[in-house]
Amino acid sequence: MSFDVDQVRRDFPALSDGVAYFDSPGGSQVPRQVAEAVARTMTAGLANRGTVTAAERRAEAVVVGARQAVADLLRCDAGGVVFARSMTQVTYDVSRALAQDWRAGDEVVVTRLDHDSNIRPWVQAAERAGATVRWVAFDRESGELSVDDVRAELSDRTRLVAFTAASNVLGTRPDVAAIAAAAHEAGALVYVDGVHLIPHAPVDVAALGADLLACSPYKFLGPHHGVLVAAPELLEGLHPDKLVPSSDQVPERFELGTLPYELLAGTTAAVDYLAGLASDAGDRRTRVLESMAAIERHEETLFARLLDGLRSITGVQLYGDPARRTPTAYFTVAGRSNREAAEQLAAAGVNAPASHFYAIEASRWLGLGDEGAVRAGLAPYTNADDVERLLAGVAEIAG
Ligand SMILES: Cc1ncc(COP(=O)(O)O)c(C=O)c1O
Repeated sequence: MSFDVDQVRRDFPALSDGVAYFDSPGGSQVPRQVAEAVARTMTAGLANRGTVTAAERRAEAVVVGARQAVADLLRCDAGGVVFARSMTQVTYDVSRALAQDWRAGDEVVVTRLDHDSNIRPWVQAAERAGATVRWVAFDRESGELSVDDVRAELSDRTRLVAFTAASNVLGTRPDVAAIAAAAHEAGALVYVDGVHLIPHAPVDVAALGADLLACSPYKFLGPHHGVLVAAPELLEGLHPDKLVPSSDQVPERFELGTLPYELLAGTTAAVDYLAGLASDAGDRRTRVLESMAAIERHEETLFARLLDGLRSITGVQLYGDPARRTPTAYFTVAGRSNREAAEQLAAAGVNAPASHFYAIEASRWLGLGDEGAVRAGLAPYTNADDVERLLAGVAEIAG
């Protein structure tokens, strides 16, 4: 079964507005199947999780189903899948829980490549504990995060290394497994931001070496909430603040208040949708792997054209040129403010906003201050026509 972008596009009601959406790194458009799963869950009889009524059992099935869907997407233990409001929120929660036994003199490693949600919670938790924060920069030209530069900041006092599996501005895909191995050698835990990688590539949490990995379904065609995955045994050892009557089981211990059942049903539908994009194999994990590989190929082809096109326009400055990357371009146009560029593109029906996109350390490190640059990211529904429209729009702005 092959990947058919025309067929894919028919599943996305939003695309009927004729806009070329390049803002998927900020949040992807949603297929009808996901929206319908959300609506179905909200309109069926629903109660809090339980076993007595059909409505209770429905809520229970939604939660159990969503944990298994995430487990199939990321190859992890469904018993270690935590649902949260956002990746930012769950990272803050976990940072406070992990930092309970950090002491003065302990060390935490963060990078300038990361979205602030995988920096600030650790910096603030470290400050409260009297721990030292060690910063790893990336190469300004290539956008690469070097394993050796991370290793240089490790010591026997390192408690945690937090880094991204893919930069949401430069697209850089660091060697996660090698960095994780170095961190583990030093006795540290590894917290990986998977938000920007998971929409673009097959992911295996164990192969990445992540002890904890966070992501956001709204970046991979699903609804707005966050996910954390870790081995249940690791989560057992953490004790976040919780209410007296709420469950102390893992993963429920980390899920404060009532879960958004309808969104979880949407996330299961998003995983099913991704799994079915280019595979009809038997089990969902196999379909996920085949389909994500097909999405990767589709996006790589379009991205090669996008990069070539941008490089050929005089006045366009592209940031970063990493060897392994997601299909995400970050650029400025000489003589135009970012806002002007984004507005002109929007007027031409091309959505490619400009910002630091919360990768504020990366933007400053690149010399882009708090202004950032224009970002154009691809999604499974992007087609060649979208790319040509973006290039024509940028050429006009530059001209
Ligand atoms: C790479 C990356 N990490 C983390 C986040 C934060 O995700 P959330 O909005 O779920 O907190 C984003 C959102 O843009 C992101 O792109």
